Amino acid sequence: MSTSALTLGHVFVLVLCLSAAEDFDWTNNQHGSFYYGTFPTGFSWGAGSSAYQTEGAWDKDGKGLSIWDVFAHKKGKIQQNQTGDTSGEGYYKVKDDVSLMKDLNLNHYRFSISWPRLIPTGIKSDHINERGIQYYDDLLDTLLENNITPIVTLYHWDLPQVLQEKYGGWQNISIINHFNDFANLCFEKFGNRVKYWITFNNPWSVAVEGYETGEHAPGLKLKGTGAYKAAHHIIKAHAKVWHSYDTQWRGKQKGLVGISLSGDWGSLWTSPTRKTSRRLRDMCSST
Ligand SMILES: *[C@@H]1O[C@H](CO)[C@@H](O)[C@H](O)[C@H]1NC(C)=O
Ligand SMILES: *[C@@H]1O[C@H](CO)[C@@H](O)[C@H](O)[C@H]1NC(C)=O
Repeated sequence: MSTSALTLGHVFVLVLCLSAAEDFDWTNNQHGSFYYGTFPTGFSWGAGSSAYQTEGAWDKDGKGLSIWDVFAHKKGKIQQNQTGDTSGEGYYKVKDDVSLMKDLNLNHYRFSISWPRLIPTGIKSDHINERGIQYYDDLLDTLLENNITPIVTLYHWDLPQVLQEKYGGWQNISIINHFNDFANLCFEKFGNRVKYWITFNNPWSVAVEGYETGEHAPGLKLKGTGAYKAAHHIIKAHAKVWHSYDTQWRGKQKGLVGISLSGDWGSLWTSPTRKTSRRLRDMCSST
């Protein structure tokens, strides 16, 4: 993993957190400065989730299979052979879930959009699933009616299975355009209500655990080149989507596009500011 890639990633994380960073001394690394009462004014408190871990309805209303549907159905891949088939049934419980968020006094909620729920094969020109769009419309409207600001992740690991099976998923450079098409569809349909977009959640895990060690979907062990190729295409896909938003949507929708990195993405990277960067990432991931 090259350091220039890491630096690029940090720039995008910084963009996401810019408003919170303005009045906060990031060089102060005292643990106590992160306890309750010491966050900057305007810091966004909320909870986060991912589609696969909350929605359930894995094969309902025209949704395509994701690599996690297929992976979890293989015996022995997940503890106790559990799956996300029904999960928290978030697909059916929009009103209940938002009312629980109100009880928690949340004013931000981060969730992810399931790519195969909107585009079953992953390729936009094949087919768009209107019932998937309807679901996210309802979720967004219900959140906003309750004054909860949505923060939306475009890729929280649930790649359409067809893209993996037929074309190699993140190993294939063509995925950059497919992902960009999906992102633009999301901006078109939901961007009037979503002002905070995150392209990828923890891309380190996607690249390394998905394509190198095989612990995560799609479970490939492409030792040596797997993680590198996946990471390379993810970085390019992030950049492409960032520029798409910048040139086609930002003027009208006035939102931000960031990325959510885990500490592991930079684990080989050492510099005097490393601690601060890790903090930033942790804080961004927790919104
Ligand atoms: C998971 O599936 C495997 C293979 O069928 C089986 O041997 C194992 O006992 C299962 N584990 C549980 C907790 O059901
Ligand atoms: C990469 O994906 C494209 C379709 O997006 C496909 O035509 C091509 O054959 C794929 N290449 C490999 C090596 O799978």
